[in-house]
Amino acid sequence: MIAFGRPMRRRFLLERGTDFLNHGSFGTTPRVVLAAAQRWRLRMEANPDRFLRHVLPGALRAAAGRLARFLHAKEQEVVFVENATSGVNAVLRSLEFRPGDEILATTHTYNAVRQTIREVCRRSGAKLVEARIELPIEDEKYLEESIVNKFNKRTRLLVLDHISSPTGLIFPVKRLAALARARGARILVDGAHAPGQLALDIPSLGVDWYAGNCHKWLFAPKGCGFLWARRNAQAGIHPPVISHGYGKGFAAEFDWTGTRDFSSWLALPDALDFFEAFRPARIRAYCHELVTRSAREVSNAWQTECDGPARLHGSLMAVRLPEPLQRRDPVRLMAEWLDRHRVVAPVMAIDGVLWARISAQVYNLPVDYTRLLELVARR
Ligand SMILES: Cc1ncc(COP(=O)(O)O)c(C=O)c1O
Repeated sequence: MIAFGRPMRRRFLLERGTDFLNHGSFGTTPRVVLAAAQRWRLRMEANPDRFLRHVLPGALRAAAGRLARFLHAKEQEVVFVENATSGVNAVLRSLEFRPGDEILATTHTYNAVRQTIREVCRRSGAKLVEARIELPIEDEKYLEESIVNKFNKRTRLLVLDHISSPTGLIFPVKRLAALARARGARILVDGAHAPGQLALDIPSLGVDWYAGNCHKWLFAPKGCGFLWARRNAQAGIHPPVISHGYGKGFAAEFDWTGTRDFSSWLALPDALDFFEAFRPARIRAYCHELVTRSAREVSNAWQTECDGPARLHGSLMAVRLPEPLQRRDPVRLMAEWLDRHRVVAPVMAIDGVLWARISAQVYNLPVDYTRLLELVARR
């Protein structure tokens, strides 16, 4: 089996000379999967009518079925969406809230999701309540308690990250879902980062809706997200764009939301072939070991700290920037690393403190993290 690191990197289009430590933000897709997507595009253009009217419906459901098996779900529970943002929007904007209702999220909730909740609250009179998560965290219990303490009888919905965006911390979704259910709240999981980083059995989590991405950690082309909805939580959930399938059932509503390029969804089986060929458990173990070891080394060199214990991470982890850099503008700093030093790692402000988030993927090696480490240590 091909070795991870440089031989694997040749299977991607990543430019030479750049230390790419940010698989997390957008993912990057292997050549072989891009070629598969292109084949679908060519097939469509050869006869758009035949393709979109006769080939697409079956091909789309076949791809959704493959994804459903991967998630241990049923085909009719899984629909494609553009991305996790879109899946979360579909649910949040379909649900009905009343003045006084509360939607519970955390201070680490992805900002696009927070903005969607804000809009839903503005229209309905519901209230956004945020559980505060302070870094560094010591254990899973802290995450659980921070959220549980915010429940009350007005809590209608818990919006929970499976893996949080600024840190890569894995939240105890199953436990929290049980606690939320016991208090009469419904649960929407933002799993943007989870598929691929974690072995997922979505129905076993006990949640109502789960939005995820395949273009991050499953190697699909960009624009490949999904929404899973438990059978009895599908009624009334509509895609952000209403089209011909309105009222005809969950899959029918989402499968067609207007003419588009369907190739990223149709190439998903090829992305899963790629992922499975290199053995998911092997990929996860490699990335986890690489990112947690590198984060520790970086934090030692910077004389700072990591966001929490290694065991609460998959393939992403955040390291606090050293003091002199805490006064920098995070957007400019990241641009400087990217353009001048060719190191790609996002810098994010959490509670007014700057953290760099690093990723590990099968094309990374330990040496990829040394430029980042030295770059900051030099100052
Ligand atoms: C927790 C979380 N939710 C949602 C998103 C948005 O993903 P997308 O842009 O693919 O919708 C991200 C992106 O990093 C994320 O980390």
